[in-house]
Amino acid sequence: MSDPIHTRYLTDTADGIAAAADVLASGGLLALPTETVYGLGADARVDRACARIFAAKGRPQFNPLIVHLAGVDQAEQIGMFDATARKLADAFWPGPLTLVVPLRETAGISPLVTAGNPTIGLRVPNHPLARAVLTAFGGPVAAPSANPSGKISPTMAKHVQQGLDGLIEAVIDGGACTVGVESTIVGCVDGRATLLRPGGVSVEDIADVIGYTPEARGDADPISAPGQLSSHYAPDAAVSLNITTPAPDQVWVGFGPDCTDAELNLSPTGDLTEAAANLFQMLRRADEIANGTRRIAFAPVPDTGLGLAINDRLRRAAAPRDQA
Ligand code: TXA
Ligand code: MG
Repeated sequence: MSDPIHTRYLTDTADGIAAAADVLASGGLLALPTETVYGLGADARVDRACARIFAAKGRPQFNPLIVHLAGVDQAEQIGMFDATARKLADAFWPGPLTLVVPLRETAGISPLVTAGNPTIGLRVPNHPLARAVLTAFGGPVAAPSANPSGKISPTMAKHVQQGLDGLIEAVIDGGACTVGVESTIVGCVDGRATLLRPGGVSVEDIADVIGYTPEARGDADPISAPGQLSSHYAPDAAVSLNITTPAPDQVWVGFGPDCTDAELNLSPTGDLTEAAANLFQMLRRADEIANGTRRIAFAPVPDTGLGLAINDRLRRAAAPRDQA
């Protein structure tokens, strides 16, 4: 373990943005907001900086990182886009979509970022502060979610500080993330789009653009996202799903108007966009209420639109922990 470093707290100001870009330019670690979750960023061309991401998160080195860019042109200099990838980029960038495409070997990306894979995950985020920092820095930023590996993804700067204080140079505060679940990951490597992870862009919206529903890849598939370990997003308390009548020792997290007795409700009106935005924050809150003595129970959430991503995260939060 290296000595703790002082983690600076930066704000959404011209000085804060310049300081954030300097952290990246000097090979440091910067947590920054995106519209999905906060990312833990480093210069994607610098081995040492990328190695520090894995160390700070306790992340297995076989799990590749997504590279964030200010624009589509920069993304096309790093990855090779087929017609499907280009359609998806045109439709959803900037936004909560990651495209996994073949890597251009000459792009100068650290092999740690791709974990040695011939493909790369690319994303142009839509958060104004992320865009400002990416533009000021000017280069590719590798950034996984800014949480210790296996824990709940951060949707506020204070969550980042709770998990990574003393391990990173700075966090820049852009408020609460509006989408609240990570990007949808679509693989475009062999002419047909595949769904590697459900996320902030619904599968229905993707199907509208490409004319078919991308096939979901299972965990055992060689080109599935290798980071999709079953246990993830783990709070301290045990989590049960699809509970309509909770036991007294369960903190019940509801969804929709019927859950009037719920201690927390992802969306009292049953709105999936609101539920996604509240998901990780309420998982943290439920864990605090459980306080090491109670369990957590989630009400059913419909499996359509953003519900697919919400249920994916809930299943991983509820999975047995021994595989984490
Ligand atoms: O919304 C998001 O995507 C956030 C923000 C910060 O951009 N990032 C994020 O990163 O969720 P992370 O590292 O927590 O999850 C990235 C996932 C992992 O499951 C990883 O295995 C997969 O993307 N991935 C990255 N590069 C890949 C590649 N070349 N092929 C397949 N999967 C890849
Ligand atoms: Mg993550």
